[in-house]
Amino acid sequence: MNILFIADPLDRFKIYKDTTYAMMAEAARRGHVLYACEPQHLAWNGAKVEASARRIAIVGDEANSDRLPWYAAEQAEHLSLTHFDAVLMRKDPPFDLEYVNATWLLEIAERNGARIFNKPQAIRDHSEKLAIAEWPQFVTPTLVTRDAARLRAFHAEHGDVILKPLDGMGGMGVFRVKADGMNLGSIVEMLSEDGARTVMAQKFIPEITDGDKRILVIGGQPVPYSLARIPQGSEVRGNLAAGGLGRAQPLSARDREIAETLGPVLQARGLLLAGLDAIGDYLTEVNVTSPTCFREIMDQTGFDVAGTFIDALERAVH
Ligand SMILES: Nc1ncnc2c1ncn2[C@@H]1O[C@H](COP(=O)(O)OP(=O)(O)O)[C@@H](O)[C@H]1O
Ligand SMILES: [Mg+2]
Repeated sequence: MNILFIADPLDRFKIYKDTTYAMMAEAARRGHVLYACEPQHLAWNGAKVEASARRIAIVGDEANSDRLPWYAAEQAEHLSLTHFDAVLMRKDPPFDLEYVNATWLLEIAERNGARIFNKPQAIRDHSEKLAIAEWPQFVTPTLVTRDAARLRAFHAEHGDVILKPLDGMGGMGVFRVKADGMNLGSIVEMLSEDGARTVMAQKFIPEITDGDKRILVIGGQPVPYSLARIPQGSEVRGNLAAGGLGRAQPLSARDREIAETLGPVLQARGLLLAGLDAIGDYLTEVNVTSPTCFREIMDQTGFDVAGTFIDALERAVH
């Protein structure tokens, strides 16, 4: 197959831990041909959507990837997205208007016959934070509002809460306010920008000490191990980007229940890969833009996540 990866700049990949790289390496190992571009290289020429894409080959190895290039690239060519057997949208958030524009362009390409994963419409429609609302049986008490008075009332009711922006990532802008209410006023004002932005308040889930579990769902099926990202020291955030420690572990019965409930729904929407996040028994996020954690799970358990993903991709396009 010819596979186009739409991703962040390749030169910034930390290949020893990058999920997109793990996908590329597995695809190349199977003899698939790799192309790469960034969202800015997409164009609609009035007739079709093209990418200015470079064919790449993996040449480096992980041991010296900080000094030597890990890939060799040919000259960029303008290629219709229908030229590829599969297009993988792997751009990381921020999920801003340019991200949305890219999904619109990809949807035009889809109408012309391109095969795109995850499906652009589904990426656009799933708010990574608000998507949990579809499965209230798995959600801890949560309030989403711009209204400062309601956020304060939620804190008064639950005592120990997390406040977070709807469009954050990597733990950015996530605050815990305990029963004493310290800093509540400033945090609410800052996150809501005095009522201009929507904020999520959530009851604090104490099981975060056992980690924020990433449950990967590939082709509707759960990967049997999660990656528990455990906050370190006095940090409340488990995100690897915030210094969390990743520990792979078998799915709990509840993890599996969550994954098996969401899996077929996500699959039917064209979400070949999703990253569910659960803290304790509760679903907190449904990540669909560019889910990660393949490498940590592969390295710690030997379970071939990248192979499972490329298997599912091969099945999806045939
Ligand atoms: N309800 C909660 N209870 C306890 N900790 C939480 C809760 N919500 C978020 N956190 C902590 O904050 C971190 C980041 O929150 P999350 O909702 O995953 O946003 P992000 O998109 O930034 O990853 C989590 O890994 C977890 O450590
Ligand atoms: Mg998260």
